[in-house]
Amino acid sequence: MATDGHGRIGILTGGGDCPGLNAVIRAVVRRALMLNYEVYGIKNGWLGLVKGIVEPLDMMKVSGILPRGGTILGTSRTNPLKKEEDKKALLANMEKFKLDCLIAIGGEDTLGVARQLAAEGVKVVGVPKTIDNDVEGTDQTFGFDTAVTIVTEAIDRLHTTAESHQRVMVVEVMGRHTGWIAVTGGLAGGADCILIPEQPMTIDDICAVIQKRHARGRLFSIVVVAEGFKLEGVEEVVTKDQKLDQFGHVHLGGVGEVIANQIEKRTGYETRVTVLGHIQRGGSPTAYDRVLGTRYGVKAVDLLNEGKYGYMVCLKGNKIEDIPLKDAMTKLKFVDPELIQTAEIFYG
Ligand code: F6P
Repeated sequence: MATDGHGRIGILTGGGDCPGLNAVIRAVVRRALMLNYEVYGIKNGWLGLVKGIVEPLDMMKVSGILPRGGTILGTSRTNPLKKEEDKKALLANMEKFKLDCLIAIGGEDTLGVARQLAAEGVKVVGVPKTIDNDVEGTDQTFGFDTAVTIVTEAIDRLHTTAESHQRVMVVEVMGRHTGWIAVTGGLAGGADCILIPEQPMTIDDICAVIQKRHARGRLFSIVVVAEGFKLEGVEEVVTKDQKLDQFGHVHLGGVGEVIANQIEKRTGYETRVTVLGHIQRGGSPTAYDRVLGTRYGVKAVDLLNEGKYGYMVCLKGNKIEDIPLKDAMTKLKFVDPELIQTAEIFYG
């Protein structure tokens, strides 16, 4: 694509929605128009490119969306590489709508598709998104800060009722493979025990932490559990049902209830569960996520303008940089052991 304009960029948002997506879309459109590109919005993730549901974006369409949660483009968990005919349709629609290049905003699944398309010569740049913060190759994904803020506020609220009733409150938060939200939100909210996929614990260990707290006169406790946590020695995660999405992920949920039942049974302490669920993904992004999303959007257009395809924008320290998609998601980004150790100091 010629630099400094005269090309057409297609933009899509895939996977779970996440606060800050609209900040990225707005930044992409504003920066692209400044450099004389046209921008087309692809509806509902990769599905829109398979089905050819694509529409032009202009200044008016992105006006006022910066503080809005969700995504004006819609999203889906469609894997266009699952069936050969979908991939063909996707490539044909790129031709049909004269899309010279793509900006794909998503997490491990959406960007995994982008990486494969890039390897096959599609001009694509990735923007890392997920409240889970588990994309390897960037220090932080946008949406994470908002989710942590919501979890922190919820824990603060649960603290006062836990103390009044002298109860154990189990708070189930998102985090399919990693415990970033649980550890960071738990630390910020002063949790007494944090359960994450990276670190299985036995139910005896968990009860011992709460009993230690009771022994020193604190008769209420907050236990934060990430939905992907497994008790030590247990093979399977707790799922809501057996349904799989197109990337093979199960529908998680329910581990909080399992842990709470066990705690009450073993300790005799009255225990309640709160599942924060999609509240963590909804609503207005924090200032941090608006700014991070905006910086990512501007950088994504600049990469395309430089002809730097097959890259993902990323945060390194406080700088926005880029990394080849093929190097970005070779594995998940697990919680830093140092952060876990810091959280453990406050257990019990
Ligand atoms: O990938 C982000 C995430 O919020 C995970 O933490 C969670 O397991 C999943 O999405 C939930 O997906 P859905 O909205 O499709 O139920």
